[in-house]
Amino acid sequence: MTRDATTIPSAGPAAEERTASSSLADFCTPPTWTVRPEDIEDVRRLQGEIRQLARARSAVILAHNYQLPAVQEVADILGDSLALAIKARETDAERIVFCGVHFMAESAKILNMDRKVLLPSLAAGCSLADSITADSLQDWKERYPGHVVVTYINSSAEVKALSDICCTSANAVSVVRSLREDKILFTPDRNLGRWVARQVPEKDIVLYDGCCPTHDVLRGISVEKTVQTHPRAVVIAHPECREDVLDMADEICSTSGMVDAVARHPEAQTFIIATEWAMVYRLQQVYPDKEFVMADGCIGCRLHCPYMKMIDLPLVKRALEEDVFEIEVDPEVAAGARRSLERMLAVPRDR
Ligand code: 13P
Repeated sequence: MTRDATTIPSAGPAAEERTASSSLADFCTPPTWTVRPEDIEDVRRLQGEIRQLARARSAVILAHNYQLPAVQEVADILGDSLALAIKARETDAERIVFCGVHFMAESAKILNMDRKVLLPSLAAGCSLADSITADSLQDWKERYPGHVVVTYINSSAEVKALSDICCTSANAVSVVRSLREDKILFTPDRNLGRWVARQVPEKDIVLYDGCCPTHDVLRGISVEKTVQTHPRAVVIAHPECREDVLDMADEICSTSGMVDAVARHPEAQTFIIATEWAMVYRLQQVYPDKEFVMADGCIGCRLHCPYMKMIDLPLVKRALEEDVFEIEVDPEVAAGARRSLERMLAVPRDR
């Protein structure tokens, strides 16, 4: 099993050996998602069946860091948007089962049109991606002529096709710095765009007015309270957070960047995490001796992405058994979107 940064325990063959006291049952999640100790054997059985099916069907399972802990465990590759796009482009498996949200599976398809890309639930959308349409981008382009369009990967294929280059939270600063042009229209996440603009002051950046509601709901005042309770903690925030939150952060990075960020603070015991709650499960697997505290002081109550929680183990199994739900992209749109994605992939990660 490959991970984009560090290895976490696999499901697979070792699954049967796990006991009810394993970390999956211990992990404190919102009540709906907690695995009860009496259910852990069923979860392990299902994970074993999924691994077997994936092998039999020549499928690679890619999962985003915000997926349910039980789904994270069954993945071949677990990572942030950038790592998953790179892996999707490289794989020679016949099928890519994408445990994430629609725009991620769509990007995988665009980057690897020869593969069958399956999204286990079509309800797994992204309201940030939905906040910009091809028509609204066209309007903005007309309002800002002469601007280069940098579009976050959290967007549809049609929007990517109308853009000059894509970015993710892991490379946004490098992408903007890589451009020769100085006038930029950054879409659709205003928080990410503002954070980039602060680091690249030499560019004139116009921000589209979209946001990720899961991150945008968090306020500096909540983080302040959490910091008061853990005064020695290192604060790590995702750049989709608002400016008042980012101002309090010691590290600002993509979800997989957070795994590396913890390693940069070997003296610290406690980390305050300002992103979606499932990331804490990932971090706990990699650093079992460290303490991770949600920035809102409440695991999953507010920093919860409902779309990232649409996929569960029975749906992953069904996707493999029935080849559903296949992602298709119009070849002409895909060609335009691929240009923007490939241009992004030529730029290295930030840092
Ligand atoms: P990452 O690329 O950092 O994993 O973030 C994806 C995302 O959608 C965050 O809300």
